[in-house]
Amino acid sequence: MSEIIRKLELRKITKKFPGVLACNNIDIQLRSGEILALLGENGAGKTTLMNVLFGLYQPEHGEIFINDKQVIINSPSTAFKYGIGMVHQHFMLVPNLTVVENIALGLLGKRIFKLNLSEVRNKILEVSKLYGLSVNPDAYIWQLSVGEQQRVELIKVLCLGANLLILDEPTAALTPQETDELIILLKKMAENDHSIIFISHKLNEVKAVSNRVCVLRNGSLVYEGETKEHSVSTLAEKMAGREISMPTLKEKSKATTPILEIKNVFAKGNKGTMALDGFSLTVNKGEIVGIAGVSGNGQKELADVINGIAHIESGKILLHNEEITNKSPQKIINKGIGYIPEDRIHEGTIPSFSVKENIIMKDYNKAPLSKNLFLQNKIIEDYSIELIKNFDIKCPNNKTSCGSLSGGNVQKVILARELSRKPKMLIASYPIRGLDIGAAEYVHEQLLEARKEDVGILLISEELDELLDICDRIAVIYEGQILDILDRDIATKSKLGLLMAGIKDEEKVI
Ligand SMILES: Nc1ncnc2c1ncn2[C@@H]1O[C@H](COP(=O)(O)OP(=O)(O)OP(=O)(O)O)[C@@H](O)[C@H]1O
Ligand SMILES: [Mg+2]
Repeated sequence: MSEIIRKLELRKITKKFPGVLACNNIDIQLRSGEILALLGENGAGKTTLMNVLFGLYQPEHGEIFINDKQVIINSPSTAFKYGIGMVHQHFMLVPNLTVVENIALGLLGKRIFKLNLSEVRNKILEVSKLYGLSVNPDAYIWQLSVGEQQRVELIKVLCLGANLLILDEPTAALTPQETDELIILLKKMAENDHSIIFISHKLNEVKAVSNRVCVLRNGSLVYEGETKEHSVSTLAEKMAGREISMPTLKEKSKATTPILEIKNVFAKGNKGTMALDGFSLTVNKGEIVGIAGVSGNGQKELADVINGIAHIESGKILLHNEEITNKSPQKIINKGIGYIPEDRIHEGTIPSFSVKENIIMKDYNKAPLSKNLFLQNKIIEDYSIELIKNFDIKCPNNKTSCGSLSGGNVQKVILARELSRKPKMLIASYPIRGLDIGAAEYVHEQLLEARKEDVGILLISEELDELLDICDRIAVIYEGQILDILDRDIATKSKLGLLMAGIKDEEKVI
């Protein structure tokens, strides 16, 4: 067991990438028992700074001190040796291995165990019991929801005995209830002398969990202060450098022409069970319909079957009166469905391709981007530069690979592509997940704009505020079916909350 980290100091950390000064002379301190929130817009340098602390990147300048002694952290295994653990923004789990096998891989580096899986399983069960993090050790990672994968990452770090935890947007993919549980867990850990660095764009969580905040902007530390001196809106202002107000839908929709009709659809999920179990829903032109629900109730399968990525056992899907059931993804794209997928790294972009290539990926073979089989390079160049500007995608230029962008900027590339394609119907799964608050404001404005232009939008989200802000109707999905649909004027958080728990008739609740 490593010595407890009573005091951590990052001194004058500078890290450059080609064309980007990601961290500029940053000083940060942290004491045991403290929860520090690291804030900043997409691309501000948060993940990079943490990767330096975790030994993944070597800084150009700067030093790290633990308990007043300088340390050189040149690899994650050295970081672990000092008791530093990190849960990454994008999970690092191997999908076709089980939970036990994945955690064993992490422990191997530490050489606590020779690959003795039953010992690893016992350690997992011990940690999961101690912290109340339930997990099936024998499940394959690909079978798990994002929230469950997050829990596995956390258990992995705890199995390694870390006493300083870096959590890079740990709640981005968690359900509100899982988030509350995580916050309680983190506070408990802080009381037990752990220190925690918490990165999040969700400022109400930052308020609830942290003692102190540090704000980065363009690679520099621009503010440091006590959390209790701030409200959510003053934190947003510190981050964005301006006041933010999330747009809301004002006028009631008059939409009556169906654009997407889903009729009694049955489809299997990854686990082999019926994930969509007689699902029916209609979205009209010029209407935003929200899908609320605890993740794992069929949301992913719903988005997948509409987009032709998963197979429908029975039932029908119509786009503008034309059947698209079980058509290929390419055909469905061509018919005019846009898709913002939940998993933006594996489904939304090709990381080794440039920003420009990712932006034109779905339309490069159509006018105006191509003519007589030839790519129109000048048009493509201008188009990509315009979208980079409009969506404020932070990248040195349009040739930068998507894989080297910050998490939120990858999301912006997908949004830029899908919204500017002018789809007839847009399926948006968690569109503001991982976006900074200024970018989230912009995306909601864009969705409302698309609605005005008669696009039908299906908005899958677990953020009730997001749904209540911009949806005309909110449908609650529960165990693969729509339990109820509420109009915006009668929908409330508490009504939605009950429905999400599977309770339809309020009067029956004691
Ligand atoms: N491996 C890399 N190669 C080149 N540039 C990089 C690399 N990693 C990060 N960058 C750049 O460094 C800057 C800071 O990125 P970083 O990932 O630290 O941002 P962030 O604050 O974590 O943002 P987000 O909230 O979007 O996750 C960005 O401009 C990003 O494009
Ligand atoms: Mg990041």
